[in-house]
Amino acid sequence: MISSLLVFSLAALLAAPAPAAEPPAPGQQRYQQLCENCHGPEGKGDGPAGLGAQPMPRDFSVGLFKFDADSDGRTGSDEDLFLVIRDGGMAVGGSPLMAPWGQLGDDSIRELVVYIRSLERAR
Ligand code: HEC
Repeated sequence: MISSLLVFSLAALLAAPAPAAEPPAPGQQRYQQLCENCHGPEGKGDGPAGLGAQPMPRDFSVGLFKFDADSDGRTGSDEDLFLVIRDGGMAVGGSPLMAPWGQLGDDSIRELVVYIRSLERAR
């Protein structure tokens, strides 16, 4: 009896339609507070604090990344982005302007990685 109820409610759950409006990404607010200044409101690397920086803050709308922080032979994996954000640019031989943000904690950094990916524009 109980188990058939469970199966039924599970089936109902699985059949539920996806929500129409996307909720704001969890990393968005933190991005706006901490990263937008350099990386820009749309992630284009055109924030005021990054102007003239050499190299420029990464343009997230392009979706191309430089560092292979976890040394697996592939740049721009989630783990690479996570490590660059956590440990900063200098840890991977890059710009000191890209500061380490480890104090945010792993969960917040993972949310930032997801948010950065959402800034990539389909081409
Ligand atoms: C003071 C300016 C500045 C701020 C603030 C800043 N960044 Fe950056 N960021 C840079 C620069 C400059 C680079 C390019 C580093 C390089 O190529 O050596 C960069 C690069 C990156 C990269 C590219 C890594 C790769 O492999 O290409 C990521 C991801 C990134 N930043 C995420 C963030 C996040 C998330 C925040 C906010 C928590 C942030 N940045 C805040 C300046 C900044």
